[in-house]
Amino acid sequence: MEIEHKNQNNNNIEDLKDLFEIDYVYENDPIKRTINITNLEDKQSLLEKLKMKIISMSNCELKKNSNRIVFNDGDIQSQIMIIGEGPGQKEDEIGKPFVGDAGVLLNKMLEAINIDRQKVYITNVVNYRPPNNRKPEPSEINRYSVFLREHINIIKPKILILMGSTAMEALFGQTLKISKERGKWKELIVNQKTYQTILTFHPAYLLRQPDQKKYSWIDLKMIRKRVDELKIGI
Ligand code: URA
Repeated sequence: MEIEHKNQNNNNIEDLKDLFEIDYVYENDPIKRTINITNLEDKQSLLEKLKMKIISMSNCELKKNSNRIVFNDGDIQSQIMIIGEGPGQKEDEIGKPFVGDAGVLLNKMLEAINIDRQKVYITNVVNYRPPNNRKPEPSEINRYSVFLREHINIIKPKILILMGSTAMEALFGQTLKISKERGKWKELIVNQKTYQTILTFHPAYLLRQPDQKKYSWIDLKMIRKRVDELKIGI
């Protein structure tokens, strides 16, 4: 993280920032009154470190039984972060999230609200394919949720979209029901920052239960509305 500027009291912000874990600083110059200090290079290197941390995990059944890590896809500067469950067969072959059938549907869902997939940031709760595409165990979800929180803290999106019950459980605990919680904006706090978060059905579920798409459409329209309200250029 690089901050070259002093604040209006001539304090060296570098000395202050660690105290408050701030992610922007006050500037005297009104044109650039705030600067986001997680710049592209910082993000790239933090993401690389996080990926290496996951790659060097020991005693992980998922890692042992899969071909490769599936870490992320999309724009690391995006204001929208989508979190799925975990890689399937195609993702495990290619090394990118949401490239199989569920990914094709995800792309269509985003297109329907005029969002280009390349312009969002995508990851999963678990980064290795669960054997036979089983749902990750609660202990696996807990273990990976530490990395997931770190991931969110690096990307710092304005909007978080959690797709399916695994993403919901990883960040809001295991007692909620996706059918009750979907379609509502919730606040998620990660490292003292609050994220506007929406839970919605997973595209793989929609492929199995197409009659549920009507609810998904409601959620998608809510997302589009919030994107416009927050003036997220996408
Ligand atoms: N399902 C997910 O949750 N993630 C993927 O990457 C693919 C399918």
